[in-house]
Amino acid sequence: MTLRDTRICVLGGGGFLGSHLVEALARRGCGRVTAVDTKLDKLPAELSEVDRLCASIESPEIVAYVVESHDVIVSTTAICNPSAYNKRPLAVIDASFTHLLPLVSACTKAGKRLVHFSTCEVYGRGELGEDGQSLPMREDTSPLILGPVHLERWSYAAAKQLLERVIVGCGLHEGLDFTIVRPFNVIGPRMDFLPGVDGEGLPRVLACFIRALLSGEPLLLVDDGQARRSFIHVDEFTEGVVKIIERGAATSGQIINLGNPDNDITIAQLAQRLIRAFEQVTSRPHVAGVRSLPAEELYGPGYDDVLRRIADIEKAGRLLDFFPTRSLDEMLPGIVADYVARYGAGFGLAGGSS
Ligand code: UGA
Repeated sequence: MTLRDTRICVLGGGGFLGSHLVEALARRGCGRVTAVDTKLDKLPAELSEVDRLCASIESPEIVAYVVESHDVIVSTTAICNPSAYNKRPLAVIDASFTHLLPLVSACTKAGKRLVHFSTCEVYGRGELGEDGQSLPMREDTSPLILGPVHLERWSYAAAKQLLERVIVGCGLHEGLDFTIVRPFNVIGPRMDFLPGVDGEGLPRVLACFIRALLSGEPLLLVDDGQARRSFIHVDEFTEGVVKIIERGAATSGQIINLGNPDNDITIAQLAQRLIRAFEQVTSRPHVAGVRSLPAEELYGPGYDDVLRRIADIEKAGRLLDFFPTRSLDEMLPGIVADYVARYGAGFGLAGGSS
């Protein structure tokens, strides 16, 4: 079955990753795509080949409709901001586990293909080598090392891991055709929300830093910003997911990391690169700089951090010809420019449209 003949449904099609995936599938010439979400405003308006369904996957009727009328179901829904893991753990667990069980079961019974977005968080704190350095995280061999239960940071990872185990169980014992994707720190336009502008609470680090830059406030560095992440641009990530859908059988039954290990930097370095990109894009100096604070001050009790997270992408390279190349210096100015164009006017910046 070619992409053009495949009926694809993206659950969470109004979210950050979901909306980029829907857009990529539509531009790639896939027949029809259905985007399902409770909010669809991140989805570009001009995509005429996309069916938009404003609904929740908590509804049994929606799950039944989606599974019956599509060949491939991509599930991307989750509450994926670390600030929620210790503040609203029950909602986090429901969103990543309880609410998705009926979908997994329905796909299994109907013989429909499920491409499920899990998370790099399942690796937890990560394994250290003999030299004390973090080892790259491998899908089929790395241990999943979560912190103790009272550190509720791990509520999300535990829920995601359990759903992975259900999906793999359905695949091995009941014939479910599935692929599990583990995204590693994907960044790009339309990520999360800007607090006080189009959402409340604390988003992930990119949106936190953009919000600070736009409002002329210091970028907050948790524990001096010494944690490390390796970031990938959303377009390269999305390309990997499109290939998973296109290549079908070759990726069935697999768990696949999608990230860019070459972009591994500290959060303090990310802050400096974003400041530089912001000053280039806007010609406005960011005089407020950065400010360090303890994690508990930003996140409250129950937070824990991953000190370094690097994807092993050998499998993605082998199965998908997935070889991301975009460096942070290549991607950050474009991402900042997009945020400035959409939000800048509200912060007194020329070139903004809102
Ligand atoms: C999160 C999610 O938990 C994952 O599920 C998800 O896959 C991952 O993002 C992702 O984007 O792929 P994490 O990387 O810890 O994990 O999320 P961020 O909120 O982006 O935090 C990254 C680092 O920046 C952490 O060390 C955090 O403490 C730090 N941070 C965050 C700051 O220093 N300042 C801030 O204002 C916000």
